[in-house]
Amino acid sequence: MNIELTEEQIAVRDAARDFAQNVLKEGVIERDETQTFPAEQIKQMGELGFMGMMVSPEYGGGGMDTISYVLAMEEISKVDASASVCMSVNNSLFCWGLDKFGTEEQKQKYLISTAKGEKIGAFCLSEPEAGSDATSQRTTAFDKGNHYLLNGTKNWITNGGSASYYIVIAQTDVEKGHKGINAFIVEKGMEGFVVGAKENKLGIRGSDTHTLMFTDVKVPKENRIGEDGFGFKFAMKVLSGGRIGIASQALGIASGAMELAIAYSKEREAFGKPIHQHQAIAFKLADMATEIEAARLLCFKAASLKDAGQNFDKLSAMAKVFASKVAMEVTVEAVQVHGGYGFVKEYHVERLMRDAKITQIYEGTTEIQKIVISRAVLSE
Ligand code: CAA
Repeated sequence: MNIELTEEQIAVRDAARDFAQNVLKEGVIERDETQTFPAEQIKQMGELGFMGMMVSPEYGGGGMDTISYVLAMEEISKVDASASVCMSVNNSLFCWGLDKFGTEEQKQKYLISTAKGEKIGAFCLSEPEAGSDATSQRTTAFDKGNHYLLNGTKNWITNGGSASYYIVIAQTDVEKGHKGINAFIVEKGMEGFVVGAKENKLGIRGSDTHTLMFTDVKVPKENRIGEDGFGFKFAMKVLSGGRIGIASQALGIASGAMELAIAYSKEREAFGKPIHQHQAIAFKLADMATEIEAARLLCFKAASLKDAGQNFDKLSAMAKVFASKVAMEVTVEAVQVHGGYGFVKEYHVERLMRDAKITQIYEGTTEIQKIVISRAVLSE
């Protein structure tokens, strides 16, 4: 793995940093408070090429590598994890999956506009009783000749209200278990498809998380992704890439909190000197920097394996477990460095601490990642 960034990768990182610090930061506290989806900012991220970074230019994407995606995710997440989860789901779970496994017709119809960020995509796997245990899908899509009839409920769907297109995982043959699962592209507005209430969350409050209900929705046959029965493997492959996105989000939340802690420790004086001159604080900053560097290297390793076309399931799970743990630890410590100021909204770190928690839960909990990792190491 080459750990020297190329000029192109540095340019992507700097563009993302510039956008995050100069555009995204404005209003982020209010959006969190009022649970406002950053619609205008996401549109601008699309114009800058951040919504379909790894999709080939032929289909409206940036044709970039996964390392560039990690770098951009980190910069956006330092400032607004609600915007970055929308970016991650659109890039990794919607666009990448369609680019890799969709038909030409599906790409023309659904990929180009989502890769450009003109439309938003969502990925619907979790159900009231099937989150971690993804093979236990209750949503069904039975073959009715020229269409599938989709029925069921999906929970915790990121971009649930703001998306135009949804990849929905459903059981098409209950007898066949995970081999009887398929993935479908569903459009908002299809008869029988209802977007439920928005969730009131602890963190990433600007992101748009909804329950979705499907009642006798007629999904055209041509909207199935891949061969019959490919849906579970499709979901696993797409989620494996998605975990690099969420690991990078956790990395950004952590490094954003550390940058705030460093800046505050230089301004704030106690016992006659800036607090960073006290070892109690300096050692915290040293631990944060070390853990963040290690998390970044794991993200890069997973990304470089993916770019090299090698199996990256174990490394993406490792990156997610580790980076999300680092995000929790670093944000808690960053609040501590700020003392009482860390506990109020104006200083941003309390939001980062709340946002960090979800990175240990979505796109597979820490426990699920450890199942993936332990199975991999035991079979090596
Ligand atoms: N790539 C390809 N195939 C894979 C695979 C992968 N990464 N992982 C598993 N498979 C295949 C297996 O080879 C197996 O196929 P065969 O029977 O042909 O050999 C099949 O899939 C079933 O695999 P398992 O027996 O390993 O399945 P399992 O029931 O033991 O579950 C699991 C495995 C890893 C626990 C899986 O269920 C899982 O990842 N669960 C978590 C799901 C998840 O991430 N949910 C989050 C929701 S999405 C979200 O949060 C989006 C959002 O909005 C932010």
